[in-house]
Amino acid sequence: MKPKFVVTGGAGFIGSALVRTLLAEGAGRVAVVDNLASGHLANLEQVQDHVETHVTDIRDYDELREIFTGAQFIWHLAAIPSVPRSIADPVPSHDVNINGTFNVLRAAHDAKVERVVYAASSSAYGDTEVLPKIESMTPHPKSPYALQKLVGEYYCNLFTENFGLETVALRFFNVYGPRQDPSSPYSGVLSLFMKHLLARTSPTLFGDGNQSRDFTYVEDVAMLCLKAARTPGVAGRMYNAGNGGRYTLNEIWAMLQQMEGVSLPPLYGPPRAGDVRDSQADTTAAATELGHAPRFTMEQGLRSTLAWYRNATV
Ligand code: UD1
Repeated sequence: MKPKFVVTGGAGFIGSALVRTLLAEGAGRVAVVDNLASGHLANLEQVQDHVETHVTDIRDYDELREIFTGAQFIWHLAAIPSVPRSIADPVPSHDVNINGTFNVLRAAHDAKVERVVYAASSSAYGDTEVLPKIESMTPHPKSPYALQKLVGEYYCNLFTENFGLETVALRFFNVYGPRQDPSSPYSGVLSLFMKHLLARTSPTLFGDGNQSRDFTYVEDVAMLCLKAARTPGVAGRMYNAGNGGRYTLNEIWAMLQQMEGVSLPPLYGPPRAGDVRDSQADTTAAATELGHAPRFTMEQGLRSTLAWYRNATV
């Protein structure tokens, strides 16, 4: 019998991409744990016959323990994301991102799971003097979200060191792509850009728009998640999950306008609290140790994302 896999946050935009990747790569049984706080069952529509969906909160130890029993790998992606949300309302994200992650690790250990791959965040680096950001740098979290995600990493490492549960943490760098939900003010900036572009309205850039990000296409991240579970000898490690490039918001908005053949000058607002100025991943460790090989250039990723939004109701 094929091994059982579990994805927490599997109805989210990254989690559902991972579920599709796992199935495409031959997985037999995939269980999703999602409380649908920000995920949508519609994200799993194409694969629903091959997925066992549990509408469950990751803070529910008993439920997790039961769902995790017999699983080989767990990808822990469930979280309350967003830097500004964690500043405006820090209690829920603290509870889910720290206590929920602890609970996932505890249940995985008790259920004798082989390995947990954890979705950490590039926000943990904060502002660094040097780019690209490499795993050996001392973290400087600038927001509750960044700190919460870093605590999760430390917990992963402790569970490996103290309890023998294999863990691998991947610091996701601004993931974008189809199905990213643009409906909240806390939504990822590229999902908001897509919405504005297709509605022919101008987005608001916080600050001068010259902050930069290593935007990483969701399918590349999903493939790296799979490799992080399969690669032997990397338990307890943390890797950047980025593309290795860097674009400013002004540059991306210009590229998108050009693709659509429109002119929509952006609006500019005050800078956002807790915002990191520049972000770019050193991908050497992920490439050499996990075989990370991103396939999507920025332009390809933007084009396929735009194509999806054009056909979706957003
Ligand atoms: C951060 C993390 C990222 C994590 C994400 C989860 C960093 C470098 N990245 O993303 O790894 O996955 O949190 O939520 O910390 N912006 C605008 N206008 C808008 C919305 C956003 O100008 O309407 C700007 C923001 O101020 C920011 C950039 O766009 O400078 C990206 O914002 P966002 O998409 O929210 O992600 P980060 O906070 O960078």
